[in-house]
Parts: sequence; structure tokens; C-alpha cells
Amino acid sequence: MTLAAPTSLTHVAVIGAGTVGSSWATFFLARGLGVTVWDPAPGFEARVNVYVERAWPVMQRLGLAAGADPARLRFAATAAEAVTGAPFVQESAPEDTVIKRALYAELDRALGPDAVLASSSSGLLISELQKGWTSAPRMVIGHPFNPPHLIPLVEVVGGPETDPAVIDWAIAFYQSLGKPAIRLNREVTGHVANRLQSALWREAVHLITTGVASAADVDTAIAYGPGLRWSLMGQTMVWHLGGGEGGLARMFEILGPAIQSWWDDLGAPDLTPEVKAKMVEQANASAAGQSIAEIARRRDELLIGLIETLGTIRGRLGPGVP
Ligand SMILES: NC(=O)c1ccc[n+]([C@@H]2O[C@H](COP(=O)([O-])OP(=O)(O)OC[C@H]3O[C@@H](n4cnc5c(N)ncnc54)[C@H](O)[C@@H]3O)[C@@H](O)[C@H]2O)c1
Repeated sequence: MTLAAPTSLTHVAVIGAGTVGSSWATFFLARGLGVTVWDPAPGFEARVNVYVERAWPVMQRLGLAAGADPARLRFAATAAEAVTGAPFVQESAPEDTVIKRALYAELDRALGPDAVLASSSSGLLISELQKGWTSAPRMVIGHPFNPPHLIPLVEVVGGPETDPAVIDWAIAFYQSLGKPAIRLNREVTGHVANRLQSALWREAVHLITTGVASAADVDTAIAYGPGLRWSLMGQTMVWHLGGGEGGLARMFEILGPAIQSWWDDLGAPDLTPEVKAKMVEQANASAAGQSIAEIARRRDELLIGLIETLGTIRGRLGPGVP
């Protein structure tokens, strides 16, 4: 196996072009790559074209790489055709082991000997997906956050058969495109970010269903409080700063016993029908009559502004933490 330099790629393949695959195609195009897409759904070409066309003004606003051009989007008639000659493949087929493994059987025959395949899977284990294929050493999870053309994070994890050099390569490749890619040292259900948001939301559900606060107030507590800092740095750094000059070690002296007492009191609700009904009622109350489309439009406008602002300021500050 001789992997191409991660910065030398000129084109990639995208397999599966639903919510996530279409967004990946937009992202790769905006980073100046040619993209060949395949999806088994009839008429997928028109759907992807519309997606890219609608998203392109935002990509222009956020900044295109040299050579970025939606005209570099190509469509293939089969999965094998799409991946033939592609040094990198981003797979975003439905979240189902049986479907993905049937697809991988076909891809395995067509992938080049130096091609890397990354699965967008949110929850499946790469050890299950890669089992039995010649290309197994070149298979990883490259889990994006939706939509990947806007949200930078990618989580990379290899399975027992993945060549460690391929994990390094995938991280370097995503990073070369401006995506902060994190490494999981071993596979775990839900990767890192989904586990984190599930842990937070479990406590939110506990607080809401036990009547401590409404969903609207719990969401306000997140978005206007810690959520603002979390868009800059994670909780470990937040509390490293919270300890003043003494950092996290000092923070443990100040707040350690309190944090332990909060942990001891956290809730662990189950998603029973009653809990789900209460949460749906609370979410609808929180929406206060706004349609999903209206909320999504406002969310997108704020998100794009935030990404734009953070990018500009980070560019001015240069490298460093956060
Ligand atoms: N939606 C999200 O928020 C999100 C976020 C991160 C990762 N993911 C992951 O991305 C993957 C795709 O999810 P999605 O939300 O885009 O689903 P989706 O249902 O929107 O899209 C799936 C696409 O795959 C196509 N497809 C069906 N059978 C296929 C096959 N055999 N081979 C290739 N493509 C096939 C479908 O026609 C469809 O266009 C999943 O693994 C999911 O876990 C989703």
C-alpha cells in the first residue's frame, strides 16, 4: 500500500447521497476537489445538483478553495464506477450493517489498492463493517456532524484490521481540508460527540420530566450560557481556566467536592412512552408556534454567522488553544 500524500488529491468519490452524502459532496467541491457521486435512488443526480446549487452561496460566503467549482461534480452509474480510480471514498449509505456490508462487497472489488474508504456511520462499528474484505486495512469511520459542509468536526476511528497509517492519513486528509478531525483510540458505540450530547441531554430530560425547569428554560441555559463557551473550547479547558493560574488542579480544590456531589445527583431517565410524550409536548411548547422550517432557517443563519466570525477571528489569532 502506497497512500497518496493527503494534500495531493484532486478528486474523491461519495457513495450514498442523502442528507449527509449530498452535504459531503458540497463540502469536497468547495475545497477544490472533483467529486463523483453514486446513489441507487432514481433521479439522485437532480437531487444532488439542487442541494449543491442551494448550498453554494453559503460556501462562497465562507470561502472557497482554489479551483472550487460545482461543475466538477460528476455522477456514476454504479458504485464500482464511482470508486474506480478514486484515492478516497466517503460512504454515506443508510445506517444499516446489512446494507453497508452488501455495498462494501461491491466496493471491495472496485477500490484501488491504495484507496481509503471512510464511512460516515454515526453508530455502527467499523470492526463489523470491515470484516472479510481485502480493503479492510484501508477502512475507517470518518463520522461527520450534520451538515458536514457547515459543521467542521470529523471523528476518525479504525477497527482491529485498519492499518494505523491509514488512520493517520485520514486525519491528515480531513485536516488538510480545514476539518478538525479527532482520533478515537478504540471504537465505542456513538463515537465521542454523540455520547457527549446524549449525556447532556439525558440530564436535560431528567430536569424537564421531574419538573425542575421547562425545555425552553433548559435550552436557554445551554445556548446562552455554557453553549457559548463550548463553541470555543471543551469543558476540560473551560475548567482549566476556571482554576485561575493554578489551572485544573486548583479547580479540583475549589469545586471538586461540588462536582462530585452534582455527579452523584444526576438523573438517568429511560426513554419510556411517558417520557417521550412529555418531551414532545415540551419541545412543541418551546417552539412557540414557529414551524420547523422557520426554526431551521434562523438556526442556519446564526450558525453561518458564527462559523464565519469564528473563522475570521481564529485566522487573526493564529494557531493555538482554543
Ligand atoms: N443525518 C445525520 O444527521 C447524520 C450525521 C452524521 C452521520 N450520519 C450517517 O450518514 C449515513 C447516511 O445517513 P443520512 O442521514 O444521509 O441518510 P439518508 O437516508 O438521508 O441517505 C441515505 C442515502 O443512501 C442511499 N442508499 C440506499 N441504499 C444504498 C446503498 N445500498 N448504497 C449506497 N447508498 C444507498 C439512499 O438512496 C439515500 O440517498 C449513515 O451512516 C448515518 O449514520 C448521519
